[in-house]
Amino acid sequence: MADFTSSFWNWFIIIPTVGGIIACFLLIRWLSTAIKPEDEGKEMDHVWDGDLVELNNPLPRWWLNMFYITLYFSIGYLALYPGLGTFKGLLEWTSTGQYEREIDIADAKYGPLFKKFQEMPIVAVAADPEARRMGERLFVNYCATCHGSDARGARGFPNLRDNDWLYGGDPDVIQQTILEGRNGVMPAWADALGGDAGVADVTEFVFSLSGRDVDQAAAARGGEKYQMLCVACHGADGTGNQALGAPNLADSIWLYGGSSKQVMETIAKGRIGVMPPHRDFLGEDKVHLLAAYVYSLSTGQEALEE
Ligand code: HEC
Ligand code: HEC
Repeated sequence: MADFTSSFWNWFIIIPTVGGIIACFLLIRWLSTAIKPEDEGKEMDHVWDGDLVELNNPLPRWWLNMFYITLYFSIGYLALYPGLGTFKGLLEWTSTGQYEREIDIADAKYGPLFKKFQEMPIVAVAADPEARRMGERLFVNYCATCHGSDARGARGFPNLRDNDWLYGGDPDVIQQTILEGRNGVMPAWADALGGDAGVADVTEFVFSLSGRDVDQAAAARGGEKYQMLCVACHGADGTGNQALGAPNLADSIWLYGGSSKQVMETIAKGRIGVMPPHRDFLGEDKVHLLAAYVYSLSTGQEALEE
């Protein structure tokens, strides 16, 4: 901290900056007066290419004036804006101040629009093309890192376009998900299932739920375990439970991949999917627009438009 409280760095900036300007000024003065009148126009004894000679002439006026203009500009700039050590400049401009002014301008411009949409039900907002465009821009900024810019998701990050929901696709539920976040907790079952063989059996049973070809004997063994350990969350028919975020296992849509290796890993080690809360970060008006945008994707409203 001593670096910032001592004035050393302050003068370390000011002295070379001011000194540099003065030195440039003196240099130009000297160059423009160095020629004695009687020497003007005389040859300097430098000859190139046989007949190209250098004459002793003063620097052109316009060229010198340009130099003076840059010097005056730098003096004016350093007086008005921060540049000389800790001197704030006469305008007291700061990048934070400019940022805050821009935010105020944006709030004044978009605030009423956000408010208008905030007061409309989500389904009505989703039907408004302008609101959907605003929602899409917010989505690309704040959600695309995890869900992809097309909202189709990736492994562990749900696809928001397919109308297949972990927590439910009603407008209010989507809004709740975005405001408060979600934690999907799938426990690890390797121990309870007695290791790889038990996990493989249950995996066969899980595949039978979505009608895949399975080893019947293994699936039967796995089915018994499933009835004991898994029904509470995933349901007897495997269609899941949206109150818990327990996915439907019977629909061939896989959050964590549907190969037998991937499903065995899910069951053996468990999975914890975290959707972060956005209430404090974005505020309710932006979340309202986002909920409408996500809802519009799942109902195909966007596809109808474009
Ligand atoms: C850090 C990564 C991350 C970010 C950022 C993120 N999400 Fe999520 N989101 C997730 C994960 C992971 C899940 C699944 C949670 C689970 O597995 O239980 C999820 C779930 C959801 C769901 C529930 C889907 C369903 O099937 O019920 C919705 C809706 C959603 N996110 C919307 C959004 C929106 C809108 C944004 C931007 C404001 C956003 N998410 C930002 C990671 C993220
Ligand atoms: C306490 C409730 C709970 C129990 C019990 C439970 N699960 Fe899960 N399961 C979940 C949740 C929640 C998820 C989603 C995890 C996430 O979103 O990250 C999940 C995810 C899964 C997935 C991944 C689905 C996909 O789309 O990728 C499989 C497979 C699965 N569970 C199988 C099982 C099996 C088999 C059992 C019994 C041995 C079981 N679960 C028991 C809650 C449970």
